[in-house]
Amino acid sequence: MKWTARRIQHLKGKQPFATVTVTDAVSARLADEAGIPLLLVGDSLGMTVLGLDSTVEVTMEHMLHHTRACARGTQHALLVADLPFLSYQISEEEALRNAGRFLQEAGADAVKLEGGEQRAPLIRRMVENGIPVLGHIGLTPQSVKTLGYRVQGKDEGAAEQLHKDAEALQAAGCFGLVIEACPANLAREITLNLDIPVIGIGAGSECDAQILVFHDLLGLSPEPRPKFVKVYAELGETVRSALQEYANEVAERQYPASEHLYDS
Ligand code: KIV
Repeated sequence: MKWTARRIQHLKGKQPFATVTVTDAVSARLADEAGIPLLLVGDSLGMTVLGLDSTVEVTMEHMLHHTRACARGTQHALLVADLPFLSYQISEEEALRNAGRFLQEAGADAVKLEGGEQRAPLIRRMVENGIPVLGHIGLTPQSVKTLGYRVQGKDEGAAEQLHKDAEALQAAGCFGLVIEACPANLAREITLNLDIPVIGIGAGSECDAQILVFHDLLGLSPEPRPKFVKVYAELGETVRSALQEYANEVAERQYPASEHLYDS
């Protein structure tokens, strides 16, 4: 059965669940086959697959292109697309149109956008117009040039603000929210305080769900990786040594062997 935003919302308070970023039809198909209920076409693809320095350089065209590919690989999961930098900040009209393109043209089921209570009116308008929205608070990578990649919510005032942000996003109609890089006890309090699922990344084990970047958890991104990343498979190493073996076998005329030849 296909996952919907409503079904994801109902996972609150039940079993903790995993979510993951995807970038193309292959990663989406593998994650979907693994039974992961929510796949995020994260704008981190700017770094993981496009070789850019930050998500600030990622465009609508990049995100639409990759979302279409992911949609082709997804059968059951809810496919959420990240709204890229400046696609939702300029005006509500532009934001609504851009968000709608992901549903109408690219096969996404929902969008994600970064920011706290200042985004609430925009999110309300999107939700009222039929666009499910996943919020994203804490460390917001699109603000790297002003905030840096720093753990958020460490002092009392900042923690209070994160509580307000989370409540405002829930009230605006988000079906869930991502909280990135904040102390575990704060993420736990926010999770307990909300009725929608809180998806943590670098936010401890007591959120309703976790998200990791596909290329990080499979050892495909370059080191150093953030402290919260667990590498579940060293695929980078596996791929590198397979390619070296292939190159050596070609150089030594061991490949192709007789079983790889067509009969005359
Ligand atoms: O783009 C991304 O990968 C994300 C996750 C870190 C949540 O937004």
